[in-house]
Amino acid sequence: MERITVELGERSYPIYIAADFSGLGNAFRKAGIGGKVLVVTDSNVGRLYLETCMAELASAGALVCSHVIEAGEKSKNLDTVKDIYRQLAAQRFDRNSTIAALGGGVTGDIAGFTAATYMRGISYVQIPTSLLAQADSSIGGKTGVDFEGVKNIIGAFYQPRFVYINISTLRTLPLRELRSGLAEVIKHGLIKDAGFYDYISLNMQKIFEFDESTLRHITRTNCSIKKSVVEQDEKESGPRAVLNLGHTIGHAV
Ligand SMILES: NC(=O)c1ccc[n+]([C@@H]2O[C@H](COP(=O)([O-])OP(=O)(O)OC[C@H]3O[C@@H](n4cnc5c(N)ncnc54)[C@H](O)[C@@H]3O)[C@@H](O)[C@H]2O)c1
Repeated sequence: MERITVELGERSYPIYIAADFSGLGNAFRKAGIGGKVLVVTDSNVGRLYLETCMAELASAGALVCSHVIEAGEKSKNLDTVKDIYRQLAAQRFDRNSTIAALGGGVTGDIAGFTAATYMRGISYVQIPTSLLAQADSSIGGKTGVDFEGVKNIIGAFYQPRFVYINISTLRTLPLRELRSGLAEVIKHGLIKDAGFYDYISLNMQKIFEFDESTLRHITRTNCSIKKSVVEQDEKESGPRAVLNLGHTIGHAV
């Protein structure tokens, strides 16, 4: 299992890159977080990976339960956050509890925002399963929801305790979502690393064939680019805005 560290002083955290979920329990133990864990996932990802992830976390001694949201951007709102708050309160989650976001960027943004605000902030971990989330959204601590038709207008900067990327989950990602995530990967090449851009162009076929060493290289490079920008400007007061290349027009479309 590879490990890259996002260096943010006392908010530093590791990104693990693996080809299965077998190291998840260990990552959890190493982070020194115990107690209750609520795995937040969506209806598609939950069907595929929830059981395995819950078993891994339980093997690390966590008391695990789950919350499944309906898949898609339409769930990214305060009503979904309220539903999760209700479960956290009903099951007496406290300041030592943790939320695990298992899914794409929608799940990660919602779960992270809930963690940032429940009891003024509890721990959360990111287990991204879409290419977009593995390349971009799970790293850097941007959390939030849409409100009254405006994307990401309610939110917080709140860093996870670790990010666990299992590249094999990309095999079940719908082709359209793989292509959509690839746009963020190409964007990283365009803004920071011309050599990486060339690598993507040359290895496009291998990406769509899920070649493990290609996916590992891509994930490693993405994480390094994203982490270096976040380390320079955690709260986007300047240089981090470069990562928004194409977002304004993308959101409008
Ligand atoms: N926080 C950040 O820094 C940041 C950065 C970029 C984008 N975002 C946000 O991310 C969101 C988009 O993320 P996304 O593209 O991952 O969307 P998503 O979370 O909706 O996932 C896309 C679809 O793929 C499915 N899916 C995910 N992983 C799967 C898997 N392994 N197998 C099968 N199906 C799977 C999901 O159920 C969903 O239907 C947007 O809301 C955007 O605003 C956040």
